[in-house]
Amino acid sequence: MNKTSEQSEAILRRPIGIFDSGVGGLTVYRALHNRLPNEHFVYLGDTARVPYGTKSLATVERYAIENSQFLAALGIKLLVVACNTASALALPKIREKIGLDVVGVIGPGARKAVEAAGARPRIAVIATEATVQSDAYAASIRQACAIAEVVQTACPLFVPLAEENWTREPETFSIAGKYLREIKEFEPEALVLGCTHYPILRDVIQQTVGENVKLIDSGEACADEVARLLNEKGLANPHRVTGTRRLCDDLDHFYVTDAADRFGRVAERFLGAKPAKLEAVEVFGVDELKESK
Ligand code: DGL
Repeated sequence: MNKTSEQSEAILRRPIGIFDSGVGGLTVYRALHNRLPNEHFVYLGDTARVPYGTKSLATVERYAIENSQFLAALGIKLLVVACNTASALALPKIREKIGLDVVGVIGPGARKAVEAAGARPRIAVIATEATVQSDAYAASIRQACAIAEVVQTACPLFVPLAEENWTREPETFSIAGKYLREIKEFEPEALVLGCTHYPILRDVIQQTVGENVKLIDSGEACADEVARLLNEKGLANPHRVTGTRRLCDDLDHFYVTDAADRFGRVAERFLGAKPAKLEAVEVFGVDELKESK
């Protein structure tokens, strides 16, 4: 193999970077891991500064850029913004600052919902307060289908309920009933799970809105988009990184900005496995560090 082809082979073997405000993005990691068995991942959970869903545009943008720069400095080949709030608020700024392909969850989730709905789509979106306020999902849905009708509701209590693994408790059903009342009355064809944590509460949400509503997991839609982009750009790794891949095995590296032990425990609840490689880091000022070298 000559030097140039060795170099391009090395690029294909680079990891895909994923960041989220915390642990919820593990649902997106799982979707990517299942969809792309030849790839490996570096995940950053900004557990020191979670939640993003109640913060302002300027703050979410700043956090998102710092996280992206941290991952870019590790030599990733593509960046996935797993956090719906960061995807809704900060994607243009991240793309401006990072010289890499960046995939968020909003566009893929919105397009999948339009595909799943009928000719005159009625689509509901549940997300954090900041994502709902940004109107990013509604805008993306209407870009895919101008006549789509959209109803959005913020469900902030779903985040701690998912982390507590309260996936069957009567309290969770009662809260879901309250949050989803308006959506049920709207009778949507599709409902977008527009927050990283909501796939954990999928059964409660499905039972509450009714079996005929199609639930759209933005993380899964994002994984399809990443697979398509890797092939289109010639960035897909053609070789299996190892024989058998398991979620959280030592080929994937997890970083958090605080409370690594708690992250490991919640990861086990969400994925049935604790990360083999988990490290606490500082992500602030990666740029300044580079400049001072
Ligand atoms: N990861 C966030 C999202 O998907 C949910 C948690 C938070 O508010 O930071 O919007």
